[in-house]
Amino acid sequence: MKEMVLQTKVVVCAYEELMPEDKEVVDAARAATANSYAVYSKFNVGAAVRLEGGVIVKGSNQENAAYPSGLCAERTTLFWANSQYPDRAVLTLAIAARTENGELAMPIPPCGACRQVILETEKRYNRTIRIILYGTRECYVVEDGIKALLPLTFDASFLNE
Ligand code: THU
Repeated sequence: MKEMVLQTKVVVCAYEELMPEDKEVVDAARAATANSYAVYSKFNVGAAVRLEGGVIVKGSNQENAAYPSGLCAERTTLFWANSQYPDRAVLTLAIAARTENGELAMPIPPCGACRQVILETEKRYNRTIRIILYGTRECYVVEDGIKALLPLTFDASFLNE
């Protein structure tokens, strides 16, 4: 028997310490919370991606009275970006959220389903996505892409074994 230790590196920093290019994507995600349709949870999430070539696309969570029919900000954004710019790899993804009390102090992490979609996007373009989770108190920068947040991933390679 042996153990496998899976490590995740996360850079913790203040918003002010982010690189200007990262701030730009984070600001887009923060702004996107204003377009969130979160009438049920009152939890407004915004996401933004920087694509190859520099375009920034943003999106937000969109809820539904039939709860499971709603979609998270991350998937709304990635699906929109990939459907509008299918030939441009996703380079950076930023996520931000606010409630009725304002922006969250701690970084908001993506849910499991969104992690799986982020993984597929990395595979699709064969590029690691830099993931930035925004909080007013601190931000997390995941430089190594989704494998840091979703270890032991399931992807299409298993389908062909
Ligand atoms: N939500 C997101 O948009 N992204 C996340 O990473 C976590 C959760 C949304 C889904 C739902 O509209 C609301 O936040 C509460 O779960």
